[in-house]
Amino acid sequence: MKRSSIQDLLQATQFSQKVHIKGWVRTFRSNRFIALNDGSTINNIQCVVDFENTDQDIIKRITTGAAIAIQGTLVESQGKGQAVEIQVSEIEILGDSNPEEYPIQPKKHSFEFLRENAHLRIRTNTFSAVMRVRSALSFAVHTYFQKNGFYYVNTPIITGSDAEGAGEMFHVTNFKANQAPLNEAGAVDYTKDFFGKETNLTVSGQLEAETYAMALGKVYTFGPTFRAENSNTTRHLAEFWMIEPEVAFMDLDGDMDLAEDFIKYVLGYVIENCKDDLDFLNNRLLQEEKTKPQAERSEMSLLEKLNFVVTNDFKRVSYTEAIDILRNSKPNKKKKFQYIIDQWGADLQSEHERYLVEKHFKCPVILFDYPANIKAFYMRLNEDQKTVRAMDVLFPGIGEIVGGSQREERLDVLKDKMKALGIEEKELWWYLDTRKFGTAVHAGFGLGFERLVQFTTGMGNIRDVIPFPRTPQNAEF
Ligand code: 4AD
Ligand code: MG
Repeated sequence: MKRSSIQDLLQATQFSQKVHIKGWVRTFRSNRFIALNDGSTINNIQCVVDFENTDQDIIKRITTGAAIAIQGTLVESQGKGQAVEIQVSEIEILGDSNPEEYPIQPKKHSFEFLRENAHLRIRTNTFSAVMRVRSALSFAVHTYFQKNGFYYVNTPIITGSDAEGAGEMFHVTNFKANQAPLNEAGAVDYTKDFFGKETNLTVSGQLEAETYAMALGKVYTFGPTFRAENSNTTRHLAEFWMIEPEVAFMDLDGDMDLAEDFIKYVLGYVIENCKDDLDFLNNRLLQEEKTKPQAERSEMSLLEKLNFVVTNDFKRVSYTEAIDILRNSKPNKKKKFQYIIDQWGADLQSEHERYLVEKHFKCPVILFDYPANIKAFYMRLNEDQKTVRAMDVLFPGIGEIVGGSQREERLDVLKDKMKALGIEEKELWWYLDTRKFGTAVHAGFGLGFERLVQFTTGMGNIRDVIPFPRTPQNAEF
């Protein structure tokens, strides 16, 4: 008999049919009721065992975590809590799970404990919901761009340029530690290394994506990026996935429009297509909020937040306006911020970003036109000569979710900027070529995929929205 998915059976309207399913036991109650899950949905199907007529050895082996196959009849459920159930006629134990040893018991486990068991945590409701939503979000990302005339580009993961300046890089070498050959000056001789030069893991595919945008018009990347910053926060990973669209003939206003439209589309997609998982995550968060003091509780539920973002305009504010707001804000005057904002030019910390979004505007905010000296070399210089055409999208509970800019397309201005920052032209000769041959206005942004998944699922820690997180001192699995 063909095997059905639990997702399909739970939606069935035809009863008395013979069915065949396989899955993992979540619970086994009263020697009678198996809650079985196969990953196709957050919902378990109840399988009712005929205790008297079942081999007692089999009954003993129906334990939480065991893989089993079931044949039976799909019926309308007599009990409360489910519409359908299976009356079991045959059970086969496919893989035992020793209850003394299996870590994922049917009770509440802390996220810390589950992180130590990241290979098994996906068998819980919370993680399976998060990862199904993550999968749907990636599909939505590709759908949005493919529908809108963008081409998907795979930029290199190993890179020979380290000029992006987005953060510390992980070194890639084939030399054995302590056995690297030295040159006459006593430095490591990378000409003898695998690539004949120093290489790193990429922090961003942007520079390469720009070259593609200058031929294909509209492109996007969606791949892993790496940053060796020692940031132990709930929003930083050493290995994370980034989505980077890059568009020729588009300026910063177009870039902001694109970011807003894109985010609204992908959130709308999951609201539409991940109802069961989002309902579960919504309730999970409501329970979690109840354990917090009243003052710290979120005003909106997860679903309300998602709908709010999809239906409201993001507030667009210049860096200069934002600094005025922050300077005059209560926490600044009362010295409640860890970093006090006293003058124009200050870099914004996440406490400031979150104040603007969560307390002041109470909606997603796009900040633009930042001071040139706190942003990357490739951003387009404004007429005022002190700000650049940069934009960051800030989200409640997350802070920065998108960083982007209109790129400096003028060869002479770009060269001056690189010179001032000590970036050698010969390192980026190919990047400069795009400004020499058919240069044009263009812009793009990077969206941190895990931060998007965090926002969508309401998970508090970024380590819980990627299967196997990579963070300082942690690369298990
Ligand atoms: O603002 P960032 O550093 O921008 C760039 O890398 C540009 N080259 C993007 C572009 O214009 N094409 O990073 C972009 C986004 C951030 O807004 C954040 O969401 C995410 O990447 N991000 C991280 N996510 C998780 N862990 C980290 N360590 C992250 N660093 C950045
Ligand atoms: Mg940034």
